[in-house]
Amino acid sequence: MATMQGWHFRASSGSMEANLSQPTSGIPTPKIKDDEILVRNFSTALNAIDYKVLELGFITSLLFRSPVTPGLDVCGHVVEVGSKVTNYKTGDMVYGALPPAPTHGALAQFVPIPADAVALVPKGLQPDDMVSMGVVGLTSYAALKPYVKPGHKVFINGGSGGTGVMAIQIAKILGAEVTTSSSNANLELCKSLGADTVLDYTSAPIATQLKDLGTVFDLVVDNVGAPANLYRVSNTFLQPQGKFIQVGLGISFAGFRQFIGNKITSLLAWGKREWIFVDASADQHAAFEQLAAWMKEGRIRAAVDSTFEFGEVPKAYERLKTGRAKGRIVVHVQDQ
Ligand SMILES: NC(=O)c1ccc[n+]([C@@H]2O[C@H](COP(=O)([O-])OP(=O)(O)OC[C@H]3O[C@@H](n4cnc5c(N)ncnc54)[C@H](OP(=O)(O)O)[C@@H]3O)[C@@H](O)[C@H]2O)c1
Repeated sequence: MATMQGWHFRASSGSMEANLSQPTSGIPTPKIKDDEILVRNFSTALNAIDYKVLELGFITSLLFRSPVTPGLDVCGHVVEVGSKVTNYKTGDMVYGALPPAPTHGALAQFVPIPADAVALVPKGLQPDDMVSMGVVGLTSYAALKPYVKPGHKVFINGGSGGTGVMAIQIAKILGAEVTTSSSNANLELCKSLGADTVLDYTSAPIATQLKDLGTVFDLVVDNVGAPANLYRVSNTFLQPQGKFIQVGLGISFAGFRQFIGNKITSLLAWGKREWIFVDASADQHAAFEQLAAWMKEGRIRAAVDSTFEFGEVPKAYERLKTGRAKGRIVVHVQDQ
């Protein structure tokens, strides 16, 4: 059986970083399905969802057959093409994001991925930069593109994390006036990405700061999920026709309660404003094509917190789990 270098997660309890291992004899190289391509992967970037679904203990053991290779964001050369794939050939450089909770994820040298989940990498762009636009680029695009019109006022809660750095840039490209939140340490980063106004959430409660601005916003994108009542008080800063898009939420009882509470409040119109949980499932290929074009034109830049070598994956997750990353955490898988 062909093998490759890759990370395995096996456990039903404990932290992600404590349960990751890189078998010295390698792990099996995955086979592709008819609608997939096999990518020789150069880089990946970490996402909170990677560890959130693997740290659910008993539930994780029901959802996954051990061992699992985590990781969603992929960039590399196509080395094999499924029989139903017509739009890629071996040697093409592609980037994209796997569907959630893969068995054969991106923390490996070779990754099977549906052909409609990737786009071509424009000449001259680098894998470490492309993966910074994976899941977070797709999610921020889905949170903004259907709703933003030029001149709209958009509030992005959490501008300096992985989702925030993409959301600020996409909202500006779409013509919005962008207000975002961050701690004092990240005000300059948010401004450098194009934010017109940055509110320091540590100086006063963010809901109070927003209320003081009046009901001026057309759209709120909440990447943080905190404070937990932000949606319920959004009638104090969102226009009556404004929408509240939820992106970040904990996978925990509190997060579940917040999700259900917001949904019911919205359905019964108690919330007075529309509440939508972001849905990034539509036309992933088109979204990645657009994001790549914007990067090629210099309108999006990769905002990278830190880059780790392939042997340092547990350390990379430790950094992500601090909740303090300024932009993306990239893992360099192998040289081109
Ligand atoms: N629904 C989806 O499809 C989807 C997709 C991607 C991500 N997500 C979720 O979105 C959430 C955010 O992901 P991420 O990748 O952006 O996380 P991240 O990179 O870990 O975010 C860290 C950043 O958040 C900032 N932050 C922390 N608390 C904040 C607050 N109260 N207000 C404003 N900023 C705050 C931190 O800045 P300071 O250090 O300055 O505090 C730091 O820069 C996660 O829950 C993730 O699971 C959902």
